[in-house]
Amino acid sequence: MTETTRPDHRPDRRPAEPPAGERPGEFPGGPALFRLDPRVAHLNHGSFGAVPVPVQEAQAALRAEVHADPDAFFTTLPDRLEQARTKIAAHLAADPDGLAFIANATEGANLALDAVPLADGEEILVTDHGYGTVTAAAARRAPVTTVALDPALPDEDAVRETVLAAVTPRTRVAVLDHVSSPTARIIASPRLIAELRERGVTTVVDGAHAPGMLADPLATGADFWFGNLHKWGYAPSGTALLAVAPQHRHRIRALVPSWEDGHGFPRSVENRATADYTGWLAAPEGLDLIEALDAAKVRAHNSTLAAHGAALLAEIPGLTPLPHTDGLAMRTLRLPPGIAQTPDAARALREEIAARLRIRVLIWPWPGGGGIRICGQIYNRPEEYARLAAALPDQLLRNA
Ligand SMILES: Cc1ncc(COP(=O)(O)O)c(C=O)c1O
Repeated sequence: MTETTRPDHRPDRRPAEPPAGERPGEFPGGPALFRLDPRVAHLNHGSFGAVPVPVQEAQAALRAEVHADPDAFFTTLPDRLEQARTKIAAHLAADPDGLAFIANATEGANLALDAVPLADGEEILVTDHGYGTVTAAAARRAPVTTVALDPALPDEDAVRETVLAAVTPRTRVAVLDHVSSPTARIIASPRLIAELRERGVTTVVDGAHAPGMLADPLATGADFWFGNLHKWGYAPSGTALLAVAPQHRHRIRALVPSWEDGHGFPRSVENRATADYTGWLAAPEGLDLIEALDAAKVRAHNSTLAAHGAALLAEIPGLTPLPHTDGLAMRTLRLPPGIAQTPDAARALREEIAARLRIRVLIWPWPGGGGIRICGQIYNRPEEYARLAAALPDQLLRNA
């Protein structure tokens, strides 16, 4: 397994952390690019993304085209999808022949895992930071070994060593987050993926948060990688990608058969009969917009804002910042012990913060006490994090 999902092997290029103490400002023109409810502080871009107005308009124009002449639209669809896929591959430094549009990360996990032959007794390794539906896809196919990663593990080396220590001769596949959802840290580092490959383990990377947040989202070199464009890539909902290394492509089978099955990957995976393809076709507009705004500037701004918010929250007694990866647009803190220990308690706290404070954040459950995740995006302003930091102590008392 020496081939990768990328044509070349550039080092992982993450944006540099802004100088400590730098006060973030507003991204010029950023908020006006979205139609978000201005009464709400949207600090949870990582869960569902948000679609900028130019991308909404591009999708609306495509929908109008479908309704004006459905025959013309659907008969030219394969070519148009190929053009859109090729543009996206260029943005992500990906091999266009190894890339397919899919609906979401969860679908990517299922497609990838179906393409790995598993013998009786072989196991899939996951971590307890993994996203629930992705871990469920693994558990449907083979016994899983769940690696417990203490959220306070200090760095990528500690994460790598903990994962490798759990590999046994039965481990056939590892499903690892690129950027973890609850703890916002890099798990599938290129070095960990390479060391798993040396041990004969097939790697499946959940890059749900990577496109648009990382400069080089396919840099892990995994056998299979899937990622959402509808989170940080400014694409319409239902827009994601599956990247497959050459040696695995012939085993990819669409979850539902279509007329394109005979064409193999990627066309067979992309054909969903008479479905709505306008999100995929509008997706290049999202990545074009990030480039036009200056991708490095966007990333720096977003990570500066998230760091600023985390610094404010860290001043609240009982909140503990978790180790983070520099340059990411999401930061997490552990809540006081006993709060958000279960999914129900976490959901209740998140919904109360939304209803009472009009602030959207992710609250994640964890045994002993959950955590809070905040995001930075070009529509956010520093005062939104200050508002959260001012109101959260009282809210935590209510939920204690
Ligand atoms: C790490 C991770 N993987 C997978 C998903 C699921 O994405 P989707 O809803 O597109 O399947 C999410 C969603 O937040 C996520 O954070």
